[in-house]
Amino acid sequence: MHHDTIAVVDFGGQYAHLIATKVRRLHVLAEIRQPEDPLEAFRKYKGIILSGSPSLSSFGEDSAYTKGIYDLPTPILGFCFGHQELAKHYGGAVVHGGREWGHADLHVVRPDHPLFKGLAVLEPVWMSHFDSVTAVGPDFEELGYTTLGPGATPHRFAAIGSDRLRRYGFQFHPEVDDTLHGDEMIANFVLGICGCTPSWTMEHYVEEEAERLRAQVGGRSVFLLASGGVDSTVAARLLAEALGPERVHLLHIDNGLMRKEESRKVVAMLHALGLGERLTFVDASDTFLAALAGVVEPERKRRIIGDTFVEVFDREARRLGIEHHLLAQGTIYPDTIETGGTRRADTIKTHHNRVPIIQEMIAAGRVVEPLAELYKVEVRELGDRLGVPREMVRRHPFPGPGLGVRLLCSTGAEDRAHFDEIEPRVADVSRRLGIGAVALPIRSVGVKADLRSYEHPVVLVGEASWQELLQAAGIIYKEVPHVNRCMWWLGPSAPSRFRPLEASVTRARLDLLREADALVMDGLRRHGLYDAIWQCPTVLVPLEVDGVGRELIIVRPIHSERAMTATPARLPIELIQELRAALLPLPGVSGLALDITTKPPGTIEWE
Ligand code: XMP
Repeated sequence: MHHDTIAVVDFGGQYAHLIATKVRRLHVLAEIRQPEDPLEAFRKYKGIILSGSPSLSSFGEDSAYTKGIYDLPTPILGFCFGHQELAKHYGGAVVHGGREWGHADLHVVRPDHPLFKGLAVLEPVWMSHFDSVTAVGPDFEELGYTTLGPGATPHRFAAIGSDRLRRYGFQFHPEVDDTLHGDEMIANFVLGICGCTPSWTMEHYVEEEAERLRAQVGGRSVFLLASGGVDSTVAARLLAEALGPERVHLLHIDNGLMRKEESRKVVAMLHALGLGERLTFVDASDTFLAALAGVVEPERKRRIIGDTFVEVFDREARRLGIEHHLLAQGTIYPDTIETGGTRRADTIKTHHNRVPIIQEMIAAGRVVEPLAELYKVEVRELGDRLGVPREMVRRHPFPGPGLGVRLLCSTGAEDRAHFDEIEPRVADVSRRLGIGAVALPIRSVGVKADLRSYEHPVVLVGEASWQELLQAAGIIYKEVPHVNRCMWWLGPSAPSRFRPLEASVTRARLDLLREADALVMDGLRRHGLYDAIWQCPTVLVPLEVDGVGRELIIVRPIHSERAMTATPARLPIELIQELRAALLPLPGVSGLALDITTKPPGTIEWE
């Protein structure tokens, strides 16, 4: 059967694959194309979408793509880098400046335009960019501009278009869930402007994927690393469905980085799901902790954890005499993209299932990943379809490296490399907004304009409404370079001096983090918030505050749909008070803060 199809040109942006997913949700087929694919390859499409990129359009980076697409009669819509390239091609100008991260308000200048059909004149949109379009060519008009906060200077040309040429561009990302009506904008382009007929459905997804798995695995069996999380559990069920349960062996490893009592619960849960017959459990916490001893740098920690997984897996496979089985993993799409998994994408962080040894095994055809194309929402849908109990399917995501990425380490040296620039600007924002603000002499991982960032957090101190806090954070990301996170101080008293202490991954620190995490999870459940919140990491940072304590606790509740973007979740004041009462007295705790960072510019995890 013929399906109308949209090409998504992947310039390496974090969201290129997400664009394709959003188009497929409209029941229109979408295919990812490389920018240098021959012009011929583009002729069959009813529309073309140009993705964002870690490259800078203003500096002419990545400009050697197939420009012949602009000569096709096919409608084209560009996002972010794609928008800037399109503007430039038709005589507009792009400069390096006007950066924005996270929320902005789009003012629609042409509400009658088909791209904005059914939408309001003011639409919340999501930004992540360094470069900006400052002028458009003669055929083009401004369809919308953005602002952030009252009285802010408008960011012009946030949406542009030429109806004669059928070329359009958005500086923002309609594909992410935080652009409230982004799906409608994509639908207006795909169904309205391109005139695609929706005919492609997900109905046979399970059968199609099962068939693909049978073809890949042939007569062999698989050995799956089952963490007890949603992804590996759904992958186990899908593999059992496709290959028969007798060909699916499971390995659950306690890496010492699990939550309180977690391994015991996971083993019980896998048994309850009927997956226990070929399940092996191994306590490898000593191996993992020995490998991590004295290591501080986040990417090194991630690699060690990933490599140790493979080492333990190989050891167990040999012990069980099943070393020729294929390695199965519950990898989902964000794991691949954040590890720089497509040709142009930047490595935001190396996910445990994408370390170099695994990449080599993938190249050698030794890895099976039934969920590699899916996002968490789709995995949950699939879990429901496969009869995995709701309680399991709705569990919060938990990263493969576990608490290892939530236990920050330090050599004890103050990291104040850019404080000359940061401190006066933070002080300026603090004065203007009337709220205390202190930059911390440590760094955490984030993502800005599709690039990894490793920068400082700022802690906001004082009484303020939730809106004021978020607005202050937004202004800080915009005006203060080298900052990718903001927190709100919850006590004990207003801090002034933070000092990093030497610390690495130890069982004692992990036990403290496990206790704090269990108290936070318990609080969310008691307040009926567990299901409403996507994920809530608790993080330990080895910081002394005003000469007291060793560990700063950070709680990071967020809302998200696919983990590619996130917004901070607001906790009721009663729960905040309970957390202060429960967490601050834990031994060695120097303070408590609530992470209020959007993604971008922060990532969900701290490392
Ligand atoms: P970030 O921190 O990149 O996280 O915003 C996005 C989502 O991925 C989870 N995460 C991981 N999951 N292996 C995983 O399986 C990993 O190495 C890893 N690192 C982050 C994170 O918890 C969030 O849900």
